[in-house]
Amino acid sequence: MEKGALLYEGKAKRVYTTEVPDLLVIAYKDDATAFNGQKKGSVSGKGIINNQMSNRLMEYLEQNGIPTHFVEEQSERETLVKKVSIVPLEVIVRNIAAGSFSQRYGVEEGLIFAEPTIEFSYKNDALHDPLMNEYHIISLGIATREEIDTIKCYAFAINDSLKTFWAGCGITLVDFKLEFGRLSDGSIVLADEISPDTSRLWDTATGKKMDKDRFRRDLGGIELAYAEVMKRLNAHL
Ligand code: TMP
Ligand code: ASP
Repeated sequence: MEKGALLYEGKAKRVYTTEVPDLLVIAYKDDATAFNGQKKGSVSGKGIINNQMSNRLMEYLEQNGIPTHFVEEQSERETLVKKVSIVPLEVIVRNIAAGSFSQRYGVEEGLIFAEPTIEFSYKNDALHDPLMNEYHIISLGIATREEIDTIKCYAFAINDSLKTFWAGCGITLVDFKLEFGRLSDGSIVLADEISPDTSRLWDTATGKKMDKDRFRRDLGGIELAYAEVMKRLNAHL
């Protein structure tokens, strides 16, 4: 499908209209940012890997009963998706302590939780994506109680599916961020992307970080790490 007008430009993707009102094209960039856009860089080939990886994972999740925005891969960087109105929440599921959780609660990275945990942040760069509880979400009309319940149910089901998938690739799923959207009929679907930009993926054998923490923490070797994750994913499919 032909791309139309640029609708929105985010930090890692551009979104275009198409001739069909309910369909959009997402184009993945190589740009990388961290710490609310304060740190900027570029990771060569990242857009190609994130596009293809996110699509393979969304197809896998669809097979496991999770509705997503995914329609069709158009090219190595571009994907046709259903148009959604994004629920402005970052939905973060964690299996192992890391990142902001470790900092906030003073726990060592690598602590394995008794049960997976979930948190919500309000998607608002100017406010630095503050944490938000379910009462706040309802108070501000960001989502209804029923929508929050659906989102939580999908998020934990996605975690179960992805943990199993990545385990088959020799990768430990530490945590990840999801975004959901509403279709024109109001139903909730998984949107945005699932990639090493939005997940923490550790090599199960060595503990090596294979995700965007290599950029956030200046660990180097990010291109190689993303390519290795993609190689293992393709081999496992
Ligand atoms: P955090 O530990 O920094 O809160 O990150 C948790 C997970 O969410 C991690 O896998 C990275 C991902 N994430 C995003 O995708 N976008 C963001 O803006 C942030 C802060 C985290
Ligand atoms: N993408 C986010 C930003 O630039 C942060 C992150 O992924 O760490 O704000």
